[in-house]
Amino acid sequence: MDQARQLLRGARKVCVLTGAGISAESGLATFRDSGGLWEKHRVEDVATMEGFERDPELVWRFYNARRKAARTAEPNPAHLALAGLGAGRKVTVLTQNVDGLHQKAGSDDVVELHGNIWRVRCSQCAAVYADRPVELPFPPRCERCPGMLRPDVVWFGELLDPRTLALAEEAAVSCDLFLVVGTSAQVQPAASFAFRAYDRGIPVVEVNKEPTPVSNLVAVSLIGLAGTILPALVENRGN
Ligand code: OAD
Repeated sequence: MDQARQLLRGARKVCVLTGAGISAESGLATFRDSGGLWEKHRVEDVATMEGFERDPELVWRFYNARRKAARTAEPNPAHLALAGLGAGRKVTVLTQNVDGLHQKAGSDDVVELHGNIWRVRCSQCAAVYADRPVELPFPPRCERCPGMLRPDVVWFGELLDPRTLALAEEAAVSCDLFLVVGTSAQVQPAASFAFRAYDRGIPVVEVNKEPTPVSNLVAVSLIGLAGTILPALVENRGN
């Protein structure tokens, strides 16, 4: 912890990659932990375009349940600690999460790598809508064409938005400290940003309740709950 605090104290630009683990203490299920979403659902059924074409109602049941859970979720001490990290430094959060909790906590530079669960997009004409009911009645239709609406999130087999990628890449290689929090680091290109920073000689600090593929390259690995570790890291940061 002392070593991590020292790295943070000297850092003027911090880039943070977050995953589902940071929202776990807000009551939102992760994907790959025991009891996680991918134990209860097949990825190919609920998180691919092929799955949506095959059974859109199943996909919408899955996302409606996640929208309902995310609506009542509140940022936890981990989100709040990151939002409080900004005094005197630039902090960019690259998140794989679609729940909007970093913004709710007050982080102002958030790059949503995998989209946002509150937006929906037409699967035909790509029109985007933000303010839909939390649980959309099925089938949710586009107002501009006969297409069906889908969540505006990135599914497996889909490319990330190129502007989002460019912003993430720039933040990852131009920071002087890279934090990785609550991600299994198994999904690309998200996980690759930690490796890009490492390749540039930027120190990487990981916070996770268990080791991950990133643990081998990090300067410091802090094993434990993000909601406990991040506030402790930020508390004594000096400036
Ligand atoms: P995962 O479910 O793969 O990983 C969650 C990580 O968080 C694991 O490494 C856990 O050990 C860790 N973790 C859980 N609770 C924690 C806590 N309280 N404090 C610290 N660490 C904790 O979730 P992601 O890595 O976010 O993509 O998954 C990446 C992507 O795969 C997701 O964005 C989603 C998924 O399939 C798409 O849907 C495209």
